[in-house]
Amino acid sequence: MQDFSLEVHGCHTYDATGAISQPIYLSATFRHPAYQQSTGYDYGRVANPTREKLEKTVAMLENGERAWAAASGMAAINLVMGLFEPGDHVLLAEDLYGGTVRLANDVYSHYGICFEYADTRNLDSVRAKMRPETKAVFIETPSNPMMFINDIEALAKISHQSNALLIVDNTFLSPHFQKPLDLGADIVLHSGTKYLCGHNDVIAGFLVLRHAGSAEAARLELLAKSAGPNLSAMDAWLLLRSIKTLGIRVERQAQNALILAEWLQKRPEVTAVYYPGLPTHPGYALQQKQASGNGGMISFKVTSPKLAQKVLGHLRMICFAESLGGVETLLTYPIAQTHAEMPRELIARTGLDDCLLRLSVGIEDVCDLQEELSDALSAAAQDVQAET
Ligand SMILES: Cc1ncc(COP(=O)(O)O)c(C=O)c1O
Repeated sequence: MQDFSLEVHGCHTYDATGAISQPIYLSATFRHPAYQQSTGYDYGRVANPTREKLEKTVAMLENGERAWAAASGMAAINLVMGLFEPGDHVLLAEDLYGGTVRLANDVYSHYGICFEYADTRNLDSVRAKMRPETKAVFIETPSNPMMFINDIEALAKISHQSNALLIVDNTFLSPHFQKPLDLGADIVLHSGTKYLCGHNDVIAGFLVLRHAGSAEAARLELLAKSAGPNLSAMDAWLLLRSIKTLGIRVERQAQNALILAEWLQKRPEVTAVYYPGLPTHPGYALQQKQASGNGGMISFKVTSPKLAQKVLGHLRMICFAESLGGVETLLTYPIAQTHAEMPRELIARTGLDDCLLRLSVGIEDVCDLQEELSDALSAAAQDVQAET
C-alpha cells in the first residue's frame, strides 16, 4: 500500500464493534479475569490500547518494528539518551534543534557521556571523529534551522563500521517524505508536535526502532516502563486522527513552500534562502535522492537584524510563534527562540545569526501568504529606513 492509504487507515486493528475511529481508552488500569490471566493490558503507563494503535501506526509509516509514543519530542529524545552510559561518546550534528543540544550539554554530559559536534555533511570529518567508544551519531535532515541536508545512507555506513547507531530526527519531513530506516538508520525520532500532529494542539514525540528484537529495544522498553514518559490516551487519539490527513497536509505545505522560497529569492530585503527544493541549495541533489518531497520549512536571511525583528511586528494572519509543522503558517526568530540557548561557538559554525527567520509554511492560500510577507518585508524596510 502507498503512504496516503497507510496514513488514512493506520494499522488495521478494529475492535468487536467495528468502530472506524479507535476508541479513547481512558482507563488507567485494566481488570484481570483471574490470577495469572490477562487481557494483555495491566497498567496504563505500560500499555494503553489507543496509544498502542498509534505506536503501531507510526512504526508502520516509518517501516520500523517498534515505536514508542512519548509526551513530547524531548521526552522521546530523553529516552534515547538512556541508551548511553558513562564513558560513551556520541557525535552530534552541529545544526540541531536547540533543546536537543541543551539536553546533551546541560544534562547528560553531567552523567559522564561525552558529546562532540561535527559538520555531518562532511563525511571525512565524521570518519575522523569516530572513536572506539562512539555509541551513536545523531542528525536531523533537513536540520533545524539551517536546512543542512545530511546523507543518511553514507552516515549509516560510517556509523555501522564503528558499531555505532545512526539516530535520525525526522521531524522536518515526516515519514510521508522520508524514511530514514529504509536508508540504513537504526532509530528515528520525531517531535510529534509538528507535522504528525499538524494542528498545533498536541505536544507529542515518537521513537521508532528498526529491530524490535535488538538490545536497544529491550533497554528502551525498560526505560519507557520505568520512567513513564508515555503519551496520554487522549493525545494519542488526536494524533491518530491527525495522521489520517498527513499526506494531503504536507504535500500542500511543500507546494506552498516551493512557491514562497522561489519568490523570497527575488525580494530585495532577502539575502539568502535555505530550502532544499531550490536547485541552488547545496544539498538539493542529495535531498532529491533520499526524500520524496522537500517539506514545508524555509529559513531565510534578511539584510539586517533590525529588519528581521521589525518583520515580526508586521504580521496579520501569519503567527510569530515557535514551533512548526501545523496547518497555520508560523514565523520564528531562531536566535531568540528555538536556538536562544545554543552555545555561541556552535551557532558561529553553522551560520545561524540574528538576520535569520524560519518560516513553517501552512496550508493557507499561497497568494495570501505571499501578499502578507510582501507587506511585512516592505513595512519593516520602511521602519528601518525611518530610524536611520
Ligand atoms: C527537530 C526537532 N526535534 C525535536 C523537537 C522537540 O520536540 P517537542 O517540542 O515536541 O518536545 C523540536 C522542537 O521544536 C524540533 O524542532
